[in-house]
Amino acid sequence: MGFRHKDIIALKDLNKEEIQLLLDTADSLSEINRRDIKKVPTLRGKTVINLFYEASTRTRTSFEIAAKRLSADAVNITASTSSVTKGETLSDTANNLLAMKPDIIVMRHSISGAHEYLAKRVSCSVINAGDGAHEHPSQGLLDMLTMRQKFGKLEGLKVAIVGDITHSRVARSDIYGLTTMGAHVFLAGPPTMMPIGIERLGNVTVCKDMREAVDQADVVMMLRIQLERQGKTLLPSMREYARYFGLNPAVLSLAKKDAIVMHPGPINRGVELSSVVADCDQSHVLKQVENGVAVRMAMLYHVCGGEPVE
Ligand code: CP
Repeated sequence: MGFRHKDIIALKDLNKEEIQLLLDTADSLSEINRRDIKKVPTLRGKTVINLFYEASTRTRTSFEIAAKRLSADAVNITASTSSVTKGETLSDTANNLLAMKPDIIVMRHSISGAHEYLAKRVSCSVINAGDGAHEHPSQGLLDMLTMRQKFGKLEGLKVAIVGDITHSRVARSDIYGLTTMGAHVFLAGPPTMMPIGIERLGNVTVCKDMREAVDQADVVMMLRIQLERQGKTLLPSMREYARYFGLNPAVLSLAKKDAIVMHPGPINRGVELSSVVADCDQSHVLKQVENGVAVRMAMLYHVCGGEPVE
């Protein structure tokens, strides 16, 4: 089966076979990242523009590394050092970049839906590197790859996602991806950070107590509090948040013995994760980052029309 999408905007848009194809391709391509010479000619002659309107360490760097490992030319633009600071609109910026004939624009933007708007107006492929509180599909894919490598499957897994669900694009992509692949998602977080009706997204259970979500879980995914997206204070204090929704060894002991701990980063140590848990053997946080390169290679490869990798 080939990949029929010009753009990757949201995991909500992908079916089980398409997600499986991206994960299988990432698994195959990950071998390149372990070689001495980490480069193949697959996307030679292609140009990738990374257009970031918001801060990023992991996503921007790994999209750039992914493009370079596939021999594409990668160019990075950060809004703070571009003509966006002079008032240029997204549409004008896109048209000017398009005049330079890129094959793919990878964009991060603070506005949910900015990518859909862009993708309708440009002929090149658009990949969403995070839009507001909407979706972060490459993060969702790398999370699923990390879980699949550990457990050999996604179907039937109990995945606890804990924290600021309302403002988390990671939570949304994880929920769409995981439920499409047959996992059962349990959510926990402060009532002020839990969207009403979120359980209607699929095989999703909302828990009042974090311990109910973590109990016998295969995966415990902790989320960062998105203070930059909260219009008003939604928490009495960070200390209280850590007490009720932080993951410490006692709460983690409720999960299955071989459960893994995940976090998309950046971590607020002592808030959503205690340092002991962040650095324990069950923590797969750096494995997620490692898998981010392979997943982004797979995304770039397939929007360029790549055939399934054997
Ligand atoms: N997980 C994630 O999106 O990290 P960055 O903001 O550093 O890209």
